[in-house]
Amino acid sequence: MPVFKYGFRANPQSESYRNPAVNGKPMPGSHEVMSMFSGCGGLDLGFLGGFTYRRTLYSALPYHIVQAVDIEDRAVETYRLNLGEHAIVGDLTEIPVRELPKCRLLIGGFPCQDFSSSGPKVGFAGTRGRLYRVLVNYMVEHRPDVVVGENVPHLMRLEGGKYIRAILRDLENCGYDFQLWNIFCPAYGLSQSRRRLFLVGKRSDLPGHPELPVPSHKARHLPIEDAIGDLTKVLDESVTNQSQYFVATKATAGGGQGDHANRRGELAYCIRANAKARIQFHYELDRRLTVRECARLQSFPDEFVFPFAAMTCMSHIGNAVPPIVGHHVAQSVLKYIQALDTGLVVASSCRTYQQEQQDFFTASNLS
Ligand SMILES: C[S@@+](CC[C@H](N)C(=O)[O-])C[C@H]1O[C@@H](n2cnc3c(N)ncnc32)[C@H](O)[C@@H]1O
Repeated sequence: MPVFKYGFRANPQSESYRNPAVNGKPMPGSHEVMSMFSGCGGLDLGFLGGFTYRRTLYSALPYHIVQAVDIEDRAVETYRLNLGEHAIVGDLTEIPVRELPKCRLLIGGFPCQDFSSSGPKVGFAGTRGRLYRVLVNYMVEHRPDVVVGENVPHLMRLEGGKYIRAILRDLENCGYDFQLWNIFCPAYGLSQSRRRLFLVGKRSDLPGHPELPVPSHKARHLPIEDAIGDLTKVLDESVTNQSQYFVATKATAGGGQGDHANRRGELAYCIRANAKARIQFHYELDRRLTVRECARLQSFPDEFVFPFAAMTCMSHIGNAVPPIVGHHVAQSVLKYIQALDTGLVVASSCRTYQQEQQDFFTASNLS
């Protein structure tokens, strides 16, 4: 396993553009964020900004993550190495909500395995299906202005929408209005076929609503080689994590059940958290994708280091929100809270989930 000198937040190469909040010096006027289920920090890096991906700068945003919590100690170690000491190991179902910091924003990609199309689909019956309740408890206690939850789009379809309706009812019943943003990540510059469902809410007493970010790459998706083509001949750690890949079985494209051989000119298959379940092959070489190639396909910058064995790193990477997608969402939220602060009426053509449901049932009754 490679040994790393430093992570993203101490790397001299990223110093000129990274968010000073990762070194404990938040930008003046930053908005405080509480991060739940923070994993290795994909969504959090998106909110902080201050990183480059494919020679594009994703600028630092005036956010300051006061605390990040995750139950998995190695994910937290990766987070701390890269994004700061504000991440702690903890079970959010056991930490009294009063002990968490009161912040203006709450973000949290609650665990999705029990809702995922590639999981057991047991919903609330599963051990992780009700974890979204810790977001609700925080909202009741601390009343953040804005809440960003994240999960898999399959949640909308599971049992005809039963679960998503129950979750949104709980989230909205404590005085919030939510929208669902079903985001196809390639439309925002990701070279991977990945969809994510964002549950974006704001307190009901506040005007307007954050708006769905405008796609940056709607009609021009970037193929896999665009993200990892330059790594084809790199076999060492001159690019971090590039020497690591999962080698448990013979690397023969298509040899195992559920294997995926990527193709040049197309989007990569979805990067999964369980590298054993769905093995990703290189589009040109007779081997699996390396940890760095998976990280690239998830839009982590090369200075973001994954300090564990390949399987563990793949799981953290596969679980993450792609940072560039998180950055688009974070910018929309920022536009909204800045408009709130300057007293501008936020014009919004977006409709809340409850309004859409109301229209749906009204239309159904009429027909
Ligand atoms: C989908 S991942 C979140 C990934 C993260 N948003 C990112 O972008 O990197 C869900 C996370 O929830 C964590 N988790 C599961 N149960 C938890 C609990 N009871 N308390 C705290 N974290 C928990 C898992 O360890 C996992 O890292």
